[in-house]
Amino acid sequence: MRRLICRISRIANKIMGVLSVSIPAKVNLHLQVVGRRSDGFHELRTVFQSVDLRDRLTAQVAGAGILDLELEPEAVLPRECDNLVLQAARALWKRVDRSPGVRLRLEKRIPVGGGMGGGSADAAAALVLLDRLWDLQIHPAELLAIASDLGSDVPFFLYGGLAFGMGRGEKILPLDDLEPTAVLILVPSVEISTAEVFSRVSAKGSWAPTEDTVYAGLEEKPPKIDWAALGNDLAGPVCAGWPEVDEALRSLRDLRPLMADVTGSGSAVFAVFSGLEEARAAARELRGKWRVEVVRTLGRTEARPRVEKLK
Ligand code: C5P
Repeated sequence: MRRLICRISRIANKIMGVLSVSIPAKVNLHLQVVGRRSDGFHELRTVFQSVDLRDRLTAQVAGAGILDLELEPEAVLPRECDNLVLQAARALWKRVDRSPGVRLRLEKRIPVGGGMGGGSADAAAALVLLDRLWDLQIHPAELLAIASDLGSDVPFFLYGGLAFGMGRGEKILPLDDLEPTAVLILVPSVEISTAEVFSRVSAKGSWAPTEDTVYAGLEEKPPKIDWAALGNDLAGPVCAGWPEVDEALRSLRDLRPLMADVTGSGSAVFAVFSGLEEARAAARELRGKWRVEVVRTLGRTEARPRVEKLK
C-alpha cells in the first residue's frame, strides 16, 4: 500500500511538478478602531497597502495525510506563520473531506510579529497554492470564507494592492492602485502579539470627523490620499508598551516623511516618502540600529498571489 502511495505521489509530481507562490507584505496606511464588539473582536476601518517585501511558499505533492513544512531561514521558527500555513492546509482538507499530502517550503522575509501580515500572507499563499496543487477548484468566494476563518487579515492577501478593510479587517473593498510610492520600513527586534495590543485599546470607539478627510479620496481614480490625516489607533498602546517601537517611530518622524506610523499592531514602523531616492537617503541615516527595508507600494496585479510552475 505504502509503495503504491509513493508511486502515485511520484506520478502526481511529474504531472503537477513543483508549484510556488510569492506573496507580499502589507502595511496599514490607516487603522481606526471603531469599538469593541460582542464577539470580543474590535470593529475596524483600515486601509491596507501591499509592499514589495515577499515570502515565498513552494509545494510538491506528497503521500496522503502528509503535511510537511520546511522553513528558511531555519533559525527563525515563526510559530504563528507555520501554524497558519498548516492550518490553511487542514482547513482545505476539512472542506474537501479528504487529506491529500504536500511538502511545503516557506522562505520568510516578512518580519514575524511585525504587523506586516507575515503569518496571514503565508496562510493566503497556502490556500491559493494548495487549491491548485491538489486541483480542488474551490470557488473564490469560498476561499475567502476559509481565509476569514483563519485570521482577520488573511482575506486581504487574496486581493493585494490597495484596499479598504472593515469588520474585523476581513471584509475587503478593493480600491484602484495608488501611484507607486516609496516606503521605508524599520523592524525593531521585538515580536508583538496582536491580541495583547487589542487588549490595551481603550474600549471607547474613536470614530472621528477625520473619517471624511481620510476616506473621501480613496475611491478616486487613481486614489488620492491625504497623508497628514492618516493614523493608527493601535500606535498609542504599542508605543506605550514597547519603547523600542516608540523610539523607531520617533526616528522616522524626525526624517520628515509624508507620513510615518506603526503598521497594524507593530512592531514594524513605516514611513512614506515622495520618492525612492528620499527613502534611500533616509534609510542610510537609520541603518545599523534596526533592520531597514526600502520598498515600493504594489498595485493589485503585481501583489495578487499567482501560482508559478517551477519544474
Ligand atoms: O484574527 P486574528 O487571529 O488575526 O486576531 C488575533 C487577535 O487579535 C484576536 O484574537 C483578537 O484578540 C484581536 N483582534 C481584535 N480585533 C480585530 C482583530 C484582531 O480584537 N479586528
